Amino acid sequence: MNKILVLFAHPAIHKSRVNAKLLASIDQLVNVKVHQLYEEYPDFHIHVKREQELLLEHDLIIWQHPLYWYSSPSLLKEWIDLVLEHNFAYGHKGNALKGKTALSILTTGGQKQAYLKKNSQESIMKDLLIPFQRTTELCQMFYLPPFVIHGTHMLDNTGIEKATNQYQQLILSLREGQFSHEEVCRYDYLNKMINH
Ligand SMILES: Cc1cc2nc3c(=O)[nH]c(=O)nc-3n(C[C@H](O)[C@H](O)[C@H](O)COP(=O)(O)O)c2cc1C
Repeated sequence: MNKILVLFAHPAIHKSRVNAKLLASIDQLVNVKVHQLYEEYPDFHIHVKREQELLLEHDLIIWQHPLYWYSSPSLLKEWIDLVLEHNFAYGHKGNALKGKTALSILTTGGQKQAYLKKNSQESIMKDLLIPFQRTTELCQMFYLPPFVIHGTHMLDNTGIEKATNQYQQLILSLREGQFSHEEVCRYDYLNKMINH
């Protein structure tokens, strides 16, 4: 069974319609730890050693956040800048994260169609996430395709419930290791791992 760490970054969780529901659905799962960065570090003073220890204790690292200006909320960037230290995560003596798996779970206000390349059905989402992908590659981790819930503003309660069920199913499959990197890396969205 994989141990999963969900590094969750949402600066206004009290206003959240979608992410709050997603987190509630995995709240009680064994071997799944949700770490709410804005709750832990409202002043942005990240406890680097503690965060590194958490990383070492887990096999699969998830960065979960709403898409903000085509990227992550700022605390997650700060977390990456500080926690993925030279000679810990990368560099001559830095291979602490080697062989672990990472992925991004995102919610976007924009609909899926807003994330297509011009005159194409191809998504730009993987392109947007290149900084995250290259970061994990430097740390010798596997970076899976993203799991994305698009069009959050238009989702009604039924839509949110459906997305939440898919998310929970995804987390369970990842925890049980019911996927192969080679297979899922062919997908543009990890949503396809459970929607077949
Ligand atoms: C500062 C800010 C920036 C945002 N930038 C984007 C964006 O670049 N693209 C997009 O599709 N939605 C954007 N949104 C919408 C959020 O992604 C959306 O509100 C969120 O995913 C909803 O999730 P929640 O219900 O858990 O808060 C932005 C929202 C805020 C507040």
